[in-house]
This record gives sequence, structure tokens and C-alpha cells, in this order.
Amino acid sequence: MRVLVTGAGSGIGLGLAAHFAEHGHAVWLTDLARGDVDQAAAQLRTQGRTAHAVELDVTCADSIRVAVEALGDAGVDLLINNAGLQHVAPLEEFPPERWAMLVAVMLTGPALLSRAVLPGMRRRGYGRIVNVGSIHSLVASPYKSAYVAAKHGLVGLTKTLAVESADVDVTVNTICPAYVRTPLVDAQIAAQAETHGIAEAQVIDEIMLKPMPKHAFVGIDELGALVEFLASDAARNITGQAIAVDGGWTAQ
Ligand SMILES: NC(=O)c1ccc[n+]([C@@H]2O[C@H](COP(=O)([O-])OP(=O)(O)OC[C@H]3O[C@@H](n4cnc5c(N)ncnc54)[C@H](O)[C@@H]3O)[C@@H](O)[C@H]2O)c1
Repeated sequence: MRVLVTGAGSGIGLGLAAHFAEHGHAVWLTDLARGDVDQAAAQLRTQGRTAHAVELDVTCADSIRVAVEALGDAGVDLLINNAGLQHVAPLEEFPPERWAMLVAVMLTGPALLSRAVLPGMRRRGYGRIVNVGSIHSLVASPYKSAYVAAKHGLVGLTKTLAVESADVDVTVNTICPAYVRTPLVDAQIAAQAETHGIAEAQVIDEIMLKPMPKHAFVGIDELGALVEFLASDAARNITGQAIAVDGGWTAQ
């Protein structure tokens, strides 16, 4: 399979790209700057994997066009829309340009990327799109209005594209993890510790993991296995879904 991952320079994207490379697939690691993904791709190649580093800003239509055209007729079989960022502030204090940026990266970006790869998937009669949503695709938390709105919107986009592509073996799904220990979350832990004047361990225990009955961070290995299943033939009728990996958060 040919797999393209956005935001693959760090965290979940990097982990998913490595997972697919290690399972014998050809992977395109893409991120804002080529330098963000060069080293990871080179390291995978030294392990005998097939990995390419590509500059791709998901908010830029030109950048998407250049990256997708470079893949040629063989195109991409599995698109993982993963790029993301966070900003925490009450709506009244949320800088409007920052609000727009979060939506551009996490909602419009996946739409533009999907738009670019779907014709090729349709032509070849096979394709999988997996959007990296969040527990915040399903529930809200205060001060995360842009993130929650973008991630909820992603579920709507997923359902629409699933219906639009149902006439071929293409599926579109969103995975919705609770907290995964990545640089994005580490930054939130540090910020919340400062805001609340408590230790980082307390932020993890009493704020982050509190809503999860399993009380544990989600592992990237869990997400890798889930995406691999969604990409398989056995999952050809699973489409338009938002799949929670949330340690029981939404079961309560
Ligand atoms: N970490 C978590 O707990 C968690 C939980 C649920 C969902 N998610 C989602 O997983 C995804 C990855 O998050 P992460 O925790 O690995 O974050 P991260 O900060 O470690 O990585 C995000 C990557 O996205 C890239 N990126 C940002 N803007 C971009 C743009 N315009 N174009 C291309 N790339 C861009 C960044 O450069 C970075 O490499 C995000 O969509 C996030 O919302 C994370």
C-alpha cells in the first residue's frame, strides 16, 4: 500500500508513518517543512523501509497539488489526515486568526487533501481515508472551542465523503483518541500546571486522565493497529464512522 501521512514530523503522525513503513508499506511522511520529516524518513530507510519526506502544508492548495502530483498515477491508497494543533483560551479571548488557523488545518485541510486524492482512488477502485479526530470530535472541553468545532466538523466531513464515495471500494473514517502522550499534549500539561499552580503529575492524574475510566494514555501502537484494520479488506463496509479510542470516556 502507498500511505501518505500529514503532520508526520511528530507525535501520532510520525508513529503511524513508522507503523506502516515497518509493516512493509511505502510511506510518504509529510509536514510543514521538509526538514521536519527528512530525518525520520532517512532513519526508516536505513532500516530497509520505503519512506519519503515531502513538504506539505495542509492549509495551502498549491502545496497539496504539488505533493499529490508528485505521487504520479499510482497515487495514494491510504491517506491519513493527521496534521493538527491546539490553542487553549476562552472564546472571548481567542484570537480570531488563531481560531481560523485551527479550522484551516484540522477541517479544511482534510477536505482539500481528500479532494486531491479521491479521483485517483476512484480510478483505481480502491482507497482508504482515515482522519485523526479526537475525543473532542465527540465531547467538548472548556477553552478549546476551535479545536472542538474543527474536530466535530471532521466527523461531518467524514460522513459526507463516505456517502459520496460509497459506489467504489473507498472508505472514509475518523478515529477519535483520548489523550496520547505526544509533544502537543506535553505542552498542554506544562501550560495547565502553570495555570493551576499544580505539579505536572497532578495535571495528568486529576485533569487529563480523570474522564477516562481506564485512566491511561492511549498508545500510538493502538492507533496503528486500528488504522491498519480500517485499511484492510475486512473493513470495506466500515465507512463514515467516528471510532472512539477513549478508555471508556464516552461510555459514562
Ligand atoms: N496527542 C493527543 O492526545 C491527541 C488526541 C487526540 C487527537 N489528536 C490529534 O492527533 C493529531 C496529531 O497530534 P499530535 O499530538 O501528534 O501533535 P504534534 O504536535 O506532536 O504533531 C502535529 C504535527 O502537525 C503538523 N502540522 C501543524 N500544522 C500543519 C500544517 N498546516 N500542515 C502540515 N502539518 C502541520 C506539525 O508540524 C506537527 O508535526 C492532531 O490532529 C491532533 O488533534 C491528538
